[in-house]
Amino acid sequence: MRHFVSKAIESLPKLDEGQIKNLIDVLAEEVKDIELLENVISSLPYGVIVARSDHYIQFMNRQVRRMLPVLQHSLEKTKVWEAILDKEISAFVKDSLLDADSVKPRDFTLETLNRDITLAVGVMPVVSEGRIQGDFIYFEDVTDKRLEEARLRRAESLASMTTMAASVAHEIKNPLGSISIHLQLMQKTLQADRDDCRSDLEEYLTIISEEVERLNSIVVDYLFAVRPMDTHPVPMDINALIQELVTFVQYEVQEAGIQLQEKPDSGLPMLNLDENLMKQALLNIIKNAMAAMPGGGTLEISTFLKDNTVQIKIRDTGTGISKEMVSKIFEPYFTTKENGSGLGLTMVYKVIKEHGGEIRVHSREGEGTTFTILLPVPQTDKKLLAWDGE
Ligand SMILES: Nc1ncnc2c1ncn2[C@@H]1O[C@H](COP(=O)(O)OP(=O)(O)OP(=O)(O)O)[C@@H](O)[C@H]1O
Ligand SMILES: [Mg+2]
Repeated sequence: MRHFVSKAIESLPKLDEGQIKNLIDVLAEEVKDIELLENVISSLPYGVIVARSDHYIQFMNRQVRRMLPVLQHSLEKTKVWEAILDKEISAFVKDSLLDADSVKPRDFTLETLNRDITLAVGVMPVVSEGRIQGDFIYFEDVTDKRLEEARLRRAESLASMTTMAASVAHEIKNPLGSISIHLQLMQKTLQADRDDCRSDLEEYLTIISEEVERLNSIVVDYLFAVRPMDTHPVPMDINALIQELVTFVQYEVQEAGIQLQEKPDSGLPMLNLDENLMKQALLNIIKNAMAAMPGGGTLEISTFLKDNTVQIKIRDTGTGISKEMVSKIFEPYFTTKENGSGLGLTMVYKVIKEHGGEIRVHSREGEGTTFTILLPVPQTDKKLLAWDGE
């Protein structure tokens, strides 16, 4: 098209009136096509940026501005990554455009006033006549999609309790085998009727009772994982509950070289909580955070009101959790620790669900992890809040 236009301009002085009119008609058709294309791109549910091969912006649709912070003016004089004001997304787009190898789309979390949104960002070259003519960058709001995926995975994992029974049966086999062997040894020892058999028998009995203990804890853990919880919620101040917990762990946290930062929002409504269960749940998250910072770090606990829910954010600067593992951490028996039960976060999940809440996790390997708990404000308090401004 460009070639055609420049040729037409060159020969313009030689054209007569009729030919010029024809040329304008052809161009008008082309412009219509382009307008149609722009309209289509504008009404896509995706954010789209098109750039030239030198990465200067040629076109940006409305959705981009809605989805993420971008420069509003002089876009045509700006390279794509300079127009994107979110540092991480900008760096990703720049790296992807300058290094053709890393073109896999990636998810980013943006904190907005109302909620955290997850954006999938992808970068593709625009190829025409076998050459890269420009860049195509797209943004998709995948917040609901990702939440739904995670919810499904968790539902599947809880529904797979029956399969879990198979692994429990397997766990039980070892101690049972060991008990049976030691009972046989005891029998033989008794049959031999030696004078010095007492110490052997005592040793066998010790082993048997240890194995019985192991069996017991397997069964207790299993029942805990599958049984519905019995909660007794009463109106409580979540900040006071957190304060008590903090006092409880303060010494241990200090010893571990961890700086504890509390950021409570003082104007929170009361919540209906089962004090003991909620304390245990928060303690599990705090213990995990501490375990993730063996060389010290920062543990931040903040509370705030957002979208009629009280939110508790527990952020650590620890090892983080890899993308592959983050979807598994709430599953029963998932652990990366030598002596971990893998039931800590299963318990947390159950407690939060029992309170009608939600739990989300955001983690970056090598940077840290943030757990966000969302708890509903009881109905009566909600009404009071709604009345407040009237
Ligand atoms: N804050 C965190 N930072 C890094 N990894 C974490 C964090 N929280 C949880 N994890 C990961 O999730 C896994 C599961 O946690 P969960 O609390 O369910 O079990 P656990 O801590 O391994 O065992 P237990 O709670 O019985 O001690 C952990 O083994 C760890 O790999
Ligand atoms: Mg744990």
